[in-house]
This record gives sequence, C-alpha cells and structure tokens, in this order.
Amino acid sequence: MDAKTKLSRIAATMTLTLAAYLVGTGLLVAGVPSNTKASAAAQGFKGNPEDYVGQETCKGCHEDMFKNWEKTPHWKTTLTHKGPEWQGCEACHGPGKAHADAMGEAAGDPAKIEAAKKLIFSFKGVPASESSQRCLACHVYGEEHSNFARQAHNINNVSCTDCHSPHHAKADYLLVAKQPLLCFSCHGEAKADFSKPFHHRVNEGLIKCTDCHNEHGGFLTKQLRATASQDAVCFKCHVDKAGPFVYEHAPVKTEGCVACHTPHGSPNPRLLKRSQINLLCLECHTFSGIDTGAPGIPSFHNQSAKYQACTLCHPMVHGSNTNRFFFR
Ligand code: HEC
Ligand code: HEC
Ligand code: HEC
Ligand code: HEC
Ligand code: HEC
Ligand code: HEC
Ligand code: HEC
Ligand code: HEC
Ligand code: HEC
Ligand code: HEC
Repeated sequence: MDAKTKLSRIAATMTLTLAAYLVGTGLLVAGVPSNTKASAAAQGFKGNPEDYVGQETCKGCHEDMFKNWEKTPHWKTTLTHKGPEWQGCEACHGPGKAHADAMGEAAGDPAKIEAAKKLIFSFKGVPASESSQRCLACHVYGEEHSNFARQAHNINNVSCTDCHSPHHAKADYLLVAKQPLLCFSCHGEAKADFSKPFHHRVNEGLIKCTDCHNEHGGFLTKQLRATASQDAVCFKCHVDKAGPFVYEHAPVKTEGCVACHTPHGSPNPRLLKRSQINLLCLECHTFSGIDTGAPGIPSFHNQSAKYQACTLCHPMVHGSNTNRFFFR
C-alpha cells in the first residue's frame, strides 16, 4: 500500500471513530474540562479555516521544529484533503493564526510573548488522557489502538507522549527510548525479573515486551496479547504446547502456562515457579488426598527415592497423544 492510500484509509476511519470514541468513553459528556485549551484538545480542533496558517508560517519562526518534524512520518498529514485542522503542525497544536500574529507583534516583549504562548495548544500541563486524545483523533484505528481508553496506562495517567515524542524521538516509532529501557524506566519490578538467572531474553533483544503485551491496551488482563485464535499469548511462539492433545493436562488449559511458569524470569530452570519439579507437581497432586481437583499420587511414589524426578517418567507434562499418564 502506498503512503497516500494508507493515509486516505486512516482519514476515512478517523472521523467516525473519533466521534464514536468520545461518546463511548463519556469523555465528551462527563469530562468537560474548565481549561479552554484543554477542551479544544479533547474535542478535536475544528473552527474556521481562517484560524489556520499552515506549516510554512510556523517554519518561519520554528525552523528547527519544522526540520525534525519533516523527517517523521507525520509529514504525510500534509497530503490530506480533509482541511487544515488535519494537516501539519496544526493537526497537533491546533489553529495557529492567533499565536503567529501575536508573536509577530510581540517584538521581543517578554510579557507579550508569554501571552502569545498561551494562544497555542502545547501539550504542557494537560491531563494525560486529554493529551492522548489529540493523538487518538487520528490514531484510533485497528485492534492495536482502539482500546487505549480502557487500559492501565491511560487510567494511570500515562499518555502517548510519555512514550512517544513527535519532535525529539530517540528510537524507532518516535519512541523516547528503546525497549526494554523505555518500559524499565517505570517498571522496576519487571527489570528485576528479567535479571534473574533464567529469563526470556528480552534484555538481549531476542524478544520484546510488546510481543506479549499490547502497550496500547486490549481486552485481556495485564494487557496481554492473544494469538490470532484468541489463545494464550505463549502459543504464538511455543506452538508445540498448544495441542490439542488426546490426553490434555488439565491445568495447561484451565489455569494456563503461568500455573507452573513465571513469564518474565525465575531463579529456577525452565522458568518454573518452584525450585524442584516435585514440589510444583505436589501442589496439586497431594499425598493426603485433599481434594485439589487433581488425583493424588499413587502410594508407591516414595519422595525420598527415585519418584522425586516426576518428569523423568512423565515427560509429556504439557499433554500427550499416546498416554494418559504423560509417559510419552
Ligand atoms: C512570528 C513568530 C512565530 C510564529 C509564526 C509561530 N510561532 Fe510558535 N512560538 C514563537 C515564539 C517566540 C515562542 C516562544 C518560544 C520560547 O518560549 O522558547 C513560540 C512558542 C510556541 C510553542 C510553545 C508554547 C508553550 O506554551 O511553550 C508552540 C507549541 C508553538 N510555538 C507552535 C507554533 C505553531 C504550530 C506555529 C504555526 C501555526 C507557530 N508556533 C508559529 C514564535 C512563533
Ligand atoms: C504529531 C503531533 C505533532 C505535530 C505534527 C507537531 N508537533 Fe510540536 N509538539 C508536539 C508535542 C507532543 C510536543 C511536546 C514535546 C514533545 O513531546 O516532543 C510539541 C512541542 C512543540 C514545541 C515546544 C518546544 C519543544 O521543543 O517541545 C514547539 C515550538 C512545537 N512543538 C512546534 C511545532 C511545529 C512548528 C510543528 C510543525 C512543523 C509541530 N510542532 C508539529 C506534537 C506535535
Ligand atoms: C492529523 C492526524 C495525526 C495526528 C493528530 C497524530 N498522528 Fe501520528 N501519524 C499520523 C500519520 C498519517 C502517520 C503515518 C502513518 C503511516 O506512515 O502509515 C502517523 C504515524 C505515527 C507513528 C508511527 C511512526 C513510525 O515511525 O512508524 C507514531 C508513533 C505516531 N504517529 C504517534 C503520534 C502521537 C504520539 C501523536 C500525538 C502527539 C500523533 N501521532 C498525532 C497521523 C497523525
Ligand atoms: C507505554 C508506552 C506507550 C504508550 C503510552 C503509547 N505507545 Fe505507541 N508504541 C509504543 C511502543 C513500544 C511501540 C513500538 C512497538 C513495537 O516495537 O512493535 C509503539 C508503536 C506505536 C505506533 C506505530 C505502530 C502501530 O501500532 O501503528 C503508533 C502509531 C503509536 N504507537 C501511537 C500511539 C498513540 C497514538 C498513543 C496514545 C494514544 C500511544 N502510542 C501510546 C509505546 C507506547
Ligand atoms: C511513564 C511510565 C510508564 C512507562 C514508560 C511504561 N509503563 Fe506500563 N504502566 C505504568 C503504570 C503507572 C501502570 C499502572 C500501574 C501498574 O500496574 O503498575 C502501568 C501498567 C502496565 C501494565 C499492566 C499491569 C497490570 O497489572 O494490568 C503492563 C502490562 C505494562 N504497563 C507494560 C508496559 C510496557 C510493555 C511498557 C514499555 C513499552 C511500559 N509498560 C511502559 C507506567 C509506565
Ligand atoms: C513471554 C511473554 C512476556 C514478556 C516478553 C513480557 N511479559 Fe510482562 N507479563 C506476561 C504475563 C503472562 C503476565 C501476567 C502474569 C500473571 O498473570 O501472573 C505479565 C505481567 C506483567 C505486568 C503486571 C505485573 C505482574 O508482574 O504481574 C507488568 C507490569 C509487565 N508484565 C511488564 C512487562 C515488561 C515491562 C516487559 C518487558 C521488559 C514484559 N512485561 C515482558 C508476559 C510477558
Ligand atoms: C515472542 C516469542 C515468545 C513468546 C510470546 C513466549 N516465549 Fe517462551 N521462549 C521464547 C524463546 C525464543 C525461548 C528460548 C529461550 C532462550 O533461549 O532464551 C523461550 C523459552 C521458554 C521457556 C524455557 C526456558 C528454558 O530454560 O528452556 C519457557 C518455560 C517459556 N519460554 C515459557 C513461556 C511462557 C509461559 C510464555 C507465555 C507467557 C512464553 N514462553 C511466551 C519465545 C517466546
Ligand atoms: C502443570 C505445570 C505446567 C504447565 C501448566 C505448563 N508447563 Fe511448561 N513445563 C513444565 C515443567 C515441569 C517443565 C520442565 C520439564 C523438564 O524439565 O523435564 C516445563 C518445560 C517447558 C518448556 C521447556 C522445555 C520444552 O518442553 O520445550 C517450555 C518451552 C514450556 N514448558 C512452555 C510452556 C507453555 C507455553 C505452557 C502453556 C501452554 C506451559 N509450559 C505450561 C510444567 C508446566
Ligand atoms: C495446578 C495444578 C496441577 C499441577 C501443578 C500439576 N497437575 Fe497434573 N493434573 C492436574 C489436574 C487437575 C489433572 C487432571 C485430573 C483429571 O483429568 O481428572 C492432572 C492430571 C495429571 C496426570 C494424569 C492423571 C490421570 O489419572 O489421568 C498426571 C500423570 C499428572 N497430572 C502429572 C503431573 C506432573 C508430573 C506434574 C508436575 C510436573 C503435575 N501433574 C502438575 C493438576 C495439576
Ligand atoms: C519412576 C517413574 C515415575 C516417577 C519418577 C513418577 N511417577 Fe507418577 N506414575 C508412575 C507410574 C508407573 C504410575 C502409574 C500408572 C498406572 O496407574 O498405570 C504413575 C501415576 C501417576 C499419577 C496418576 C495417579 C492416578 O491415580 O491417576 C500421578 C498424578 C502421578 N503419577 C504423578 C507423579 C508426580 C507428581 C511425580 C513426582 C513427584 C511422579 N508421578 C513421579 C511412574 C512415575
């Protein structure tokens, strides 16, 4: 798809989705902010075509900003025929004529410059969800982005611009930092997990946080991604564990992989939750016959001897097509 087709596809969806989104989230109705700059942001910039001056005028005073913007995919907004409020600098900063005129007349007077600054939307001091609203005016499309409103980042005041910078990006996708450093800057616990002896090789660059999580939000808990068939995120890469098997091991299906594994990192081999396999299995397969929903182990399974190494005899612990006891 060339840039123009892609753009017109975005353009076609954005009007509808923005309206639906604002109403759907109640932002239009419930969250009417007192600050006028902010409410312009929440509602999308409209108004008179005469209030817009176009990016060439901005360039006259902000050449550095123009030049860094020009190198990003956002230059493509200048190709739309939808009107000035969807183009160039003013698609994000709102109508700029009042600001440009006032700056032109300020003639170096600090008070007048301060006043003129207030005439343009700058993303500063705006609540996170409203700042994001500015971006979502165009970016509420597709699975990837349509759930931002309900997600943990948005609810906890993390906005698009905490992770992305349209002008001063340091990594691909206009990110302020590369993964996983970007995520570690707020998620110290995850950082500690991935430093454990056994871990998914995220720090080493083999896989990314966003292979498992949708940083933009989704329907699953912990912002997890699912495979195309809505299965656990783990099956995307560990297809051999997906089955279906003639003899399923119930917890793999009911509780999922995290019944036995930690997804990030672990002090134990195979990312297991327990240091010894028998302790893990015995959490459910008890001696005592307490009802855990799992059969107790047979009495000949003496734990002081060879019956400790459960997976020596029951290696197909994720499921088997030939043996009910997962012997092979
Ligand atoms: C006549 C010169 C002039 C023009 C034209 C102009 N600006 Fe500015 N703009 C300024 C000056 C001066 C500042 C204050 C810079 C500072 O404080 O460092 C400023 C500040 C800003 C700020 C920051 C506001 C803040 O609250 O800190 C933004 C955003 C901005 N301009 C965007 C634009 C956009 C978008 C356009 C085009 C629609 C534009 N400017 C046109 C001179 C201009
Ligand atoms: C995709 C949205 C977007 C577009 C398009 C955009 N800006 Fe910005 N601009 C921002 C954001 C967000 C900030 C706040 C700082 C940041 O996160 O990078 C900002 C900050 C600024 C500032 C404040 C100074 C600074 O360094 O932060 C100026 C001035 C500015 N923009 C001018 C412009 C001009 C001129 C254009 C067009 C050439 C433009 N912007 C296009 C989103 C945008
Ligand atoms: C006027 C519409 C519009 C607005 C508003 C807008 N964007 Fe974009 N954005 C686009 C278009 C168009 C592209 C390019 C899509 C493409 O190349 O297929 C894009 C691309 C991007 C990309 C991908 C960059 C890459 O390297 O692939 C990111 C990240 C992004 N925008 C973030 C933002 C953020 C953050 C904001 C708010 C500060 C924002 N956008 C506001 C239209 C917009
Ligand atoms: C918690 C950090 C974070 C937040 C918040 C965030 N993003 Fe992103 N975004 C990312 C990362 C990381 C990537 C790159 C993913 C990858 O490498 O596959 C990305 C990719 C993108 C892309 C390009 C790929 C695509 O999906 O089209 C766009 C566009 C984008 N983000 C827009 C936004 C917008 C708009 C917002 C706010 C509504 C936002 N992002 C909020 C981290 C974030
Ligand atoms: C600016 C700080 C910040 C950045 C950067 C950030 N996050 Fe978050 N994240 C938060 C906050 C705050 C929460 C909500 C509180 C919590 O659950 O820790 C959150 C929640 C989450 C959750 C949901 C946790 C749950 O319990 O539901 C996941 C998953 C997540 N972030 C992943 C990521 C990933 C992946 C990245 C990098 C692409 C990232 N975050 C970058 C601040 C951030
Ligand atoms: C292999 C897949 C995978 C990768 C890679 C991954 N996560 Fe997770 N993450 C998960 C799963 C699964 C959970 C849910 C754990 C649970 O429910 O017990 C989770 C939970 C979380 C949570 C919620 C708090 C918690 O510990 O339960 C946060 C925050 C988080 N991940 C952040 C990150 C960050 C940041 C990265 C990258 C540095 C990352 N994750 C990489 C699979 C992954
Ligand atoms: C993006 C691909 C990807 C996803 C998604 C993924 N993994 Fe992995 N996993 C790997 C790779 C690659 C390895 C090989 C480890 C290595 O050599 O670093 C691995 C290894 C493992 C191992 C074995 C570690 C060892 O010591 O042999 C376990 C257990 C594991 N993953 C469980 C999970 C679970 C549970 C999930 C879901 C929460 C998951 N994986 C999601 C790619 C993935
Ligand atoms: C009932 C506990 C349990 C559940 C649930 C479970 N595993 Fe395992 N898994 C194990 C044990 C025990 C080992 C170590 C086997 C060994 O060392 O002999 C293991 C090993 C692995 C390995 C490394 C060796 C291999 O067979 O490739 C991967 C990868 C793995 N599991 C992925 C997964 C995934 C993905 C899921 C979810 C679909 C999952 N596991 C669910 C117990 C479990
Ligand atoms: C989270 C709980 C849980 C854990 C941990 C667990 N299992 Fe199971 N296991 C079950 C349940 C539930 C069943 C199915 C009972 C049924 O189908 O009636 C089962 C079935 C079995 C069966 C087949 C029994 C039969 O009569 O068909 C074997 C063998 C088995 N597990 C071995 C293991 C081994 C070995 C481990 C450790 C690697 C383990 N299990 C860990 C819950 C667990
Ligand atoms: C030396 C081989 C061996 C080891 C090691 C071993 N088992 Fe078994 N396991 C067996 C045999 C043989 C059976 C009986 C199969 C039958 O009834 O035909 C069995 C049966 C089971 C059953 C099914 C019980 C029932 O009533 O349905 C469970 C559950 C089980 N084992 C769990 C475990 C656990 C947990 C461990 C580790 C603590 C373990 N096994 C270690 C050989 C082994």
